[in-house]
Amino acid sequence: MTGAEDEAAAVVADQQTVLVVDFGAQYAQLIARRVREARVYSEIVPHTITAAEVAERAPAALVFSGGPKSVNVEHSPRIDPGIYDLGVPILGICYGAQLIADQLGGQVGGGGSGEYGRTELRRLEGVDSDLLGDDEDPQTVWMSHFDAVTRVPEGFTATAASDGAPNAVIECPERRIWAVQYHPEVAHTPQGQALLERFLHRLAGCADTWTMGNFIEASVAAIREQVGDGRAICGLSGGVDSAVAAALVHRAVGPQLTCVFVDTGLMRKDEGEQVVETFRRHQGIELVHVRAEDRFFDRLAGLTDPEDKRKAIGELFIRVFEDARGGVEDARFLVQGTLYPDVIESGTAHAATIKSHHNVGGLPDDLDFELVEPLRLLFKDEVRAVGSELGLPDEIVWRQPFPGPGLGVRIIGEVTPDKVAVLQEADAIVREELRAAGLERQIWQSFAVLPDIRTVGVMGDERTYGYPVIIRAVTSDDAMTADWARIPYDVLESMASRIINEVPGVNRVAYDITSKPPGTIEWE
Ligand code: XMP
Repeated sequence: MTGAEDEAAAVVADQQTVLVVDFGAQYAQLIARRVREARVYSEIVPHTITAAEVAERAPAALVFSGGPKSVNVEHSPRIDPGIYDLGVPILGICYGAQLIADQLGGQVGGGGSGEYGRTELRRLEGVDSDLLGDDEDPQTVWMSHFDAVTRVPEGFTATAASDGAPNAVIECPERRIWAVQYHPEVAHTPQGQALLERFLHRLAGCADTWTMGNFIEASVAAIREQVGDGRAICGLSGGVDSAVAAALVHRAVGPQLTCVFVDTGLMRKDEGEQVVETFRRHQGIELVHVRAEDRFFDRLAGLTDPEDKRKAIGELFIRVFEDARGGVEDARFLVQGTLYPDVIESGTAHAATIKSHHNVGGLPDDLDFELVEPLRLLFKDEVRAVGSELGLPDEIVWRQPFPGPGLGVRIIGEVTPDKVAVLQEADAIVREELRAAGLERQIWQSFAVLPDIRTVGVMGDERTYGYPVIIRAVTSDDAMTADWARIPYDVLESMASRIINEVPGVNRVAYDITSKPPGTIEWE
């Protein structure tokens, strides 16, 4: 294990753990987040986990996720049947429920037309249900299934049904196995979180120990153990992940941490000053502020191809970061804001991923550091909660994702200081208006883009020939897919009129209504 993995293991050593078994298509991440919202620590494991491995981990419970396959097709994902005999409480969800029925002697069939979307779930008469407890009856649940459990395994009782699923909830308290055809983890199932909490707390006996206060305490101790009396450095990007990682490490080792903030000149308006202000003045963190705008603009002169621009920014960033290390040459530890979804995506929880805060090429792995990754157990919403508890301001804690190459990929064509100044002003207006409308936190990313064209307009009696600005705003859960945000017309209107009136050189505003796919979120 790497130092960062040891540190993570120490943080959860005293936590009861729920293992969420992943049957595909990212259903497991949402379940794991909901379990943690119930104040129980959860981890995602692949369905290939063996009974022996589960026994060794001694989890407090298992949750089987949904998945895109049918249990009746060849090579559908299965689980080691020995797991059912361990006595560990199990909750099956959707595919997980069907798999339990199939593997324990019941039957799963296609037959009907399936159920997709909001569905009515009714309790069956004459049977008690530990799992449904005192949930309202009937209740609305979110279904997304073609197959259904057509015969309940021996020892199980069906306790609720819907039109398309006669055995929508099945239970076997003697074996401590419960299963639901619907999705309690999604917001469209109003009593879903209550069901998960009942399973975790009442049926599996989990205590409320996963809180961000407890996390900070355990993490501070583990970081002290890892870093000892060594020196650490952290590259700040202005983003929430590196900010929270730095604040946490600072809480643990104080002046042994030095932060390096490379100002590329490609940040949003006032963002550079805000980083310096927050970290140096408010948090009292030693901060090396490298003003490298000129070097970046020189390097970008004449470059128009998006990949050339990305590469140039990434390479120069590493060079500047390396130069800045001069003052802290004895630093042995590099703090990174790697999050749990990055760890999962790297394929294995034990893979040490070096994810640069810029993601543009990344920091090279020959940088001779041991990594400190205090957020590698956390989902983004937990990182924000930790940031708030550590006293970071809302502007940083709630900051939207921002690409490493910054405004460099939002200015189409050559990047110049003049164009950056125009875009910064327009972009600030987009964000101000969205905040004023109370929409900022519902939107994944919102920004302005400056294309490499001019358009004709008229202002007063004058013909103008200026830049158009494109507003881009999307909703998303993870940036893999995104939808254009349905911003009210009056908000768009105030953005447009302010941009044209307040930003010299801009005479037209367009709104991008492309989803991802087929578009990407950024324009380059
Ligand atoms: P796209 O444009 O591919 O973006 O839909 C998906 C997400 O990634 C961000 N993004 C980047 N982040 N370096 C980064 O660190 C990059 O080069 C980069 N390009 C895109 C983008 O802002 C969105 O959140």
